[in-house]
Amino acid sequence: MRLDKYLGDHNIGTRKQIKEYVKNGRCKINGIVALKSDVHIDEDKDEISFDGVILSYKKYHYFILNKPSGVVSATTDGRNTTVLDLLKDENVKGLSPCGRLDIDTEGLLLITDDGGLIHRLLSPIKHVDKVYEVHLKDRLTDEGRMKLEEGVDIGDKKDDGSIDYTLPSKVAFAPDDGQDRPVILLTIHEGRFHQVKRMLEAVGNEVLFLRRLSMGPIKLPDDLLPGQYRSLTDEEIDLLNS
Ligand code: URA
Repeated sequence: MRLDKYLGDHNIGTRKQIKEYVKNGRCKINGIVALKSDVHIDEDKDEISFDGVILSYKKYHYFILNKPSGVVSATTDGRNTTVLDLLKDENVKGLSPCGRLDIDTEGLLLITDDGGLIHRLLSPIKHVDKVYEVHLKDRLTDEGRMKLEEGVDIGDKKDDGSIDYTLPSKVAFAPDDGQDRPVILLTIHEGRFHQVKRMLEAVGNEVLFLRRLSMGPIKLPDDLLPGQYRSLTDEEIDLLNS
């Protein structure tokens, strides 16, 4: 691969900046100052350093985004801003969101070019836990809670025409933060279309606001504001792959 692509993949800068940095002697290939940014390197064998720091090759890229409301979880959209538009400065090709959040839902969205990971996290047989903070119109009754936890009819049918109930879920009550509307934490293990909203509708309630707090082992960091994102840490990537 070309040196400038390799450095770009490490978020060193834009192609133009990288050209300048290399010209200024900031990059070494196997200990020797690189003279041009368009030279070809062997990313598996060559040791590349920038400003004295040795770079290891990143095959895949992993980001955690706090999706804001009003942005769609798609790779392209003619009308609305997409979650990939929010990451365009990263200049990484082949990124996709790991699942979808509705346009008005906020919270944790993993975005990666690692198709294998996306497949594993979304596979219906893996039952990856997803925790949602759900702001409700009405207080959840004990009966509603029991139904949600047992599995509800949200209108889906199996191939044989029988009701496809949701899998058992877990309801917890969010700590009282002074808001006057009831808030629950709902843990589900599937990813059906509008699932949380339809589950609450099935028990006679209504979702007024929805935020995803976690997916599998990855939690939405408190300091990541809506619209902000960061790369996953090596520890977080290991957790996802374990
Ligand atoms: N369930 C929903 O209803 N909407 C989402 O965005 C995610 C889960």
